[in-house]
Amino acid sequence: MSNKPKILVSRLLPQAVEQRIANSYNAVSNLEDLVLTSSDIIEKAHGLDGLLVSATERCDAAFISALPSSIKIIATFSVGYDHIDLQAAKSAGIVVTNTPDILTDATADIAILLMLGAARGAYWGEQMVRNQKWQRWAPTHPLGIDITGATLGILGMGRIGQAVADRAKAFKMDINYFKRTKLDATIENGAAFFDDLDAFLPTCQFLSINCASTEQTRGLINKATIENLPDGAVIINTARGDIVNDDDLIEALQSGKIAAAGLDVFNNEPDIDPRYRSLNNVFLLPHLGSATPNTRIAMGMRALDNLDAFFSGVTPKDVVNK
Ligand code: DGY
Repeated sequence: MSNKPKILVSRLLPQAVEQRIANSYNAVSNLEDLVLTSSDIIEKAHGLDGLLVSATERCDAAFISALPSSIKIIATFSVGYDHIDLQAAKSAGIVVTNTPDILTDATADIAILLMLGAARGAYWGEQMVRNQKWQRWAPTHPLGIDITGATLGILGMGRIGQAVADRAKAFKMDINYFKRTKLDATIENGAAFFDDLDAFLPTCQFLSINCASTEQTRGLINKATIENLPDGAVIINTARGDIVNDDDLIEALQSGKIAAAGLDVFNNEPDIDPRYRSLNNVFLLPHLGSATPNTRIAMGMRALDNLDAFFSGVTPKDVVNK
């Protein structure tokens, strides 16, 4: 046995990433991409030094406390780390890293796809064509919603929110953003700052959710906040499903209070609330934000850069539980 660090890799990763893992680590891999339960991972982790997980593996306090004490790092193949109890990891002396930056553009692209798809009827339009429901072109129906010149509210103006704003400017959209602290004018780039959610929401003809899932944001889009949006607003979510209360959003989509929604993330993926499937005014994607080959390779390489740094005694670049 060589003295390479020993890690468990919970999911099958892109080939170039698997190759680098094979070169640098003694890895317990999952090349068949089987579903591993928490107990499977805990069992396989005995004698290992670290875990390379993804957002599909829930690393809560109970999981972390059951890990062997040899595990010193959890590197997640995701920018989001809401699936990991950071405090529990810290108390157990486990460093947690993520993969920021490199999926910003791919995710912002999907937000624009969702915005256009929801507003202009990508779902119902496609259904008409595929199901031979398109009898003849009509001047009055069906109609979508204008994006050009509308106001886009960005909830959480971090890297991805800023990239969405950049793209939205090509549609001549006015950008407002809600954040606790005002950004530098150069980063704002003309967007208007709101630190009061009650004042921000009524301005959002389109609302793009781009904040992390935290104690403060879970369930933030609910009956009361939806009520505060303009009638006929469009909601886009590329962040995390649990920021939205499904009952309240579905009710608003049914009543028309929310004209349309574009959703790439859901509560309880992939077993989403089945009512979404039968709504005509939603455009749904299966968590594709980072789903391009280059992005997924870059995510894997970034996770490995963090592991390499850690095992060579250097603080990894992307530690999220300092
Ligand atoms: C992320 O990186 O957080 C994406 O949502 C994929 O999990």
